[in-house]
Amino acid sequence: MVITQKILRNVSLSAHPIGCRRAVEEQVAWVKAHKTASAEEAYPPSAALDLPKRVLILGGSTGYGLSSRIVAAFAGGADTISVSFEREPSETKTATAGWYNSKVFDDLATKEGLKAFSLFADAFSNQTKQMVADLIEQEFGSVDLIIYSLASPLRIDPESGVTYRSTLKPIGEPFTALSVGLESDIVTSATIESADQDQVEETVKVMGGEDWILWLQYLKERKLLASGCMTVSYSYIGPALTYPVYREGTIGKAKEHLEASAKRLDELLATAGGRAFVSVNKALVTRASAVIPVVPLYMALLYQVMKERGLHEGCTEQIYRLFTTILYSGSQIPTDSEGRLRIDDWEMRADIQAEVERRWNLQVEGTAIVEGDLGGVRAEYDQIHGFGFDGIDYAKDIDPRIV
Ligand code: NAI
Repeated sequence: MVITQKILRNVSLSAHPIGCRRAVEEQVAWVKAHKTASAEEAYPPSAALDLPKRVLILGGSTGYGLSSRIVAAFAGGADTISVSFEREPSETKTATAGWYNSKVFDDLATKEGLKAFSLFADAFSNQTKQMVADLIEQEFGSVDLIIYSLASPLRIDPESGVTYRSTLKPIGEPFTALSVGLESDIVTSATIESADQDQVEETVKVMGGEDWILWLQYLKERKLLASGCMTVSYSYIGPALTYPVYREGTIGKAKEHLEASAKRLDELLATAGGRAFVSVNKALVTRASAVIPVVPLYMALLYQVMKERGLHEGCTEQIYRLFTTILYSGSQIPTDSEGRLRIDDWEMRADIQAEVERRWNLQVEGTAIVEGDLGGVRAEYDQIHGFGFDGIDYAKDIDPRIV
């Protein structure tokens, strides 16, 4: 079939296998180039550092989780297991990008002599935890690092069987703000109704730290955590203009829970010399972030400002910096006053935020976005689904089951 891109309400319904291969290959090439001979101070060579060798990534097929897997394997030489929830391809339907990415990753990693296992399963279920623990036992013995990078619209509680759904809503008052979609550069005004208490609680159930704790408790019980084992999950804070829908909204409550969970996990791991952290990352285009109201407009302005100052990074650059300059730099791990790791430091710089805010105030409902890089946001969105790469013949008839 000829694979075309279909986007509905900022959700891509298709993915291109050859383009997904290219996207993963480019990230791997960037990491390998920095591993031994990085000339950039912000991204020191990883080869001399003591990076973890057996890594479990929950949500390792796309976005920050995929980048964590790529950095672990290609900067640190780690064997990896990824768990993700992805659709496989059929003769007439493409897989989701994460399915293709995982297959490409396994291919590239095994060619380097690394073990790579990609499991497609519901990370929230007890069966998956058991399956992963068995695999760790057989193949790795134990793990040194667990990255928890799930972004999901729902979670089925493994004990009660109840399905919880996450929502992206403000709390208290409805929130009206400017926004932009990926399909048009016209700025619109969107009002998001506020969440009720059940929606707040459900979002915390899905995107908070409960399941992260269950994973660590279970792996500890099975004696699969190596001495000094670390675990990291990802959070976001962002600027005041997105607070109502993000940090002070339903997802913000879930992130508060995630951050509190890191403290509990830090205690759980301390007996074996381990640590647990939340890392606050930069706003970047991923499947998860593209559907948050207001955020695509903010990202378009942020991208432009950061690119003008030579500070723009993708997920892989962010995670490379996290591993090499914060988590495994060999020095004491630097945290903020709340104990969090900060790789949103460049995004949150006062000069960057002041400029984004100035540009935010230039936007007018019903007219095209000004002084923003919606094209760049859109191009990244296309590429994470395998579209928009030079040299790929998108008119060619291909079997969606190839990778
Ligand atoms: P993403 O949508 O690219 O990745 C989500 C991952 O979760 C995928 O691998 C997906 O397969 C997996 N997943 C979803 N449901 C699952 C299930 N039931 N079982 C197994 N795997 C499942 O999202 P992104 O943006 O990389 O988000 C990852 C984390 O990073 C989230 O906690 C997010 O809040 C955080 N973050 C994202 C930022 C952004 O701007 N994209 C900024 C800061 C933090």
